[in-house]
Amino acid sequence: MTQLSAAQKPGQSSAPTPDSSKALYGGKSNRRITVRDLTAAKERGEKWPMLTAYDAMTASVFDESGIPVMLVGDSMGNCHLGYDTTVPVTLDEMTLLAAAVVRGTRRALIVGDLTFGSYQEGPVQALRSATRLVKEAGVGAVKLEGGERSHEQIKLIVDAGIPVMGHIGLTPQSVNTMGYRVQGRGEEAAQQLLRDAKAVQDAGAFAVVLELVPEELAAEVTRILHIPTVGIGAGVECDAQVLVWTDMMGLTPGRMPRFVKQYADLRGVMGDAARAFAEDVVGGAFPAAEHAVH
Ligand code: KIV
Repeated sequence: MTQLSAAQKPGQSSAPTPDSSKALYGGKSNRRITVRDLTAAKERGEKWPMLTAYDAMTASVFDESGIPVMLVGDSMGNCHLGYDTTVPVTLDEMTLLAAAVVRGTRRALIVGDLTFGSYQEGPVQALRSATRLVKEAGVGAVKLEGGERSHEQIKLIVDAGIPVMGHIGLTPQSVNTMGYRVQGRGEEAAQQLLRDAKAVQDAGAFAVVLELVPEELAAEVTRILHIPTVGIGAGVECDAQVLVWTDMMGLTPGRMPRFVKQYADLRGVMGDAARAFAEDVVGGAFPAAEHAVH
């Protein structure tokens, strides 16, 4: 018979309480998060946050804030490099910025996106691109878009020892054929999404992004898969949530999609600071005596 601890009442479960020191967010470990930690979090039922990052300094802020996973997303095309879509982003650009994010962080798992054109030719091209991101940028995992159509690419990369995050639902690299529309609506589309989710898992991916997928369907995928689902516009039942950092911090101009929650107004703060500096310079208030060097 097991002994009850002092605080435990008769009839209470003796199941061990989750070890909060292992939590992905709020955990105490200083080492880099690995994909095994994400698998364990799904088993514990622990949700986790992921943010995009494109430079060392911003990434260091998120790392110090305890964000356990950062995605160097090809959303850098729209959010950092001034392109209209993610399509023009090159593997050279991705490698450069992913390396900066890795250098700016100590704890987060850094996932680098395989850019459009760097894996569609087939598994060998995909492995070559993934290997480059691991060797030259130092990322701990790569992400690529597509379910059934990317099964062979994911499998070869995983077989080579590189963890892969899948990405299904809305896949922005296919904007020219797909547009920016909710995916998985209607019976046929829902069945395709389920097949895509299983294809990604069967190929060996450690997690899968579900982008712009109806909440109930995302919940079903999350129940069926043993790997974590990372939702963006896919409802609350996903195991993790990702947002593009410039969207959630209020830096991206214009109207945001409904699924974005804005946590700050960086565009306002930075604009006010830039105008205050300009007025100080024009009016002669900056530099003041305390800023002068003698
Ligand atoms: O590139 C990106 O930021 C992404 C996320 C939206 C998941 O793929």
